[in-house]
Amino acid sequence: MTAQLNPRGHVAVLVPAAGAGVRLGPGAPKALRPLAGEPLLVHAVRRIAAAASVHTIVVAAPAAEVDAVRDLLTPVAPVTVVPGGAERQASVAAALAAVPAGPEIILVHDAARALTPPELVESVAAAVRSGHDAVIPVLPVVDTIKEVGPGEVVLGTVDRSALRAVQTPQGFRRAVLTAAHEAAGDPLTDDAGLVEKQGVPVVCVPGSEHALKVTRPFDLALAEHLLAGGA
Ligand code: CTP
Ligand code: MG
Repeated sequence: MTAQLNPRGHVAVLVPAAGAGVRLGPGAPKALRPLAGEPLLVHAVRRIAAAASVHTIVVAAPAAEVDAVRDLLTPVAPVTVVPGGAERQASVAAALAAVPAGPEIILVHDAARALTPPELVESVAAAVRSGHDAVIPVLPVVDTIKEVGPGEVVLGTVDRSALRAVQTPQGFRRAVLTAAHEAAGDPLTDDAGLVEKQGVPVVCVPGSEHALKVTRPFDLALAEHLLAGGA
């Protein structure tokens, strides 16, 4: 049976999933690589669909895999699948263009953050609903950070207390995200960066360790471990 999304939900979630996964090593596009026997994208979409506010999910798939991704996700949740672009920003723009009239809150969420809990989706959506135009989930930076120059020589130590590591889903009032993408210049790796350029305040909420981005083989092993532990 096809899962139903909440018809009273008011949030659309865009899922850029068109990347190659170069840093993960040779193989299929990253979103389609298995984590405990299921593609990363399936894990991600299942958790998004479990968030009560979600009304619409739009996935940007690798262009050659659009039909395969649609078939893969049909048993998981009702989704719209569009071809992604050469850069993440183009994939997000393609997904944004496919959102139907209705949802006024839009979340942008990496397929690679496959174990993101539905509670984080809800807390970001709630922060936008409460009146913020742009919301990002963040974690404190735990390592000491150095600025280095030529020859790997240390130039100085950065004040860590003012730094945050940024995750997804990032949440936006629809008009704010649309305007930021229309005005976008050089591709950025996150949507909040585009919104910042528009002078819109971006507010942080607590992120989740489980929203780690699977980037390198070590991250995949860690995600397998978390999943075995019930994530
Ligand atoms: N993404 C996308 N379209 C692109 C590039 C990336 O939709 N042209 C998506 C990825 O599928 C991923 C998210 O953006 O879900 C975050 O990107 P990243 O972790 O960098 O994934 P990849 O680009 O696939 O990995 P790599 O940079 O190692 O190739
Ligand atoms: Mg990438």
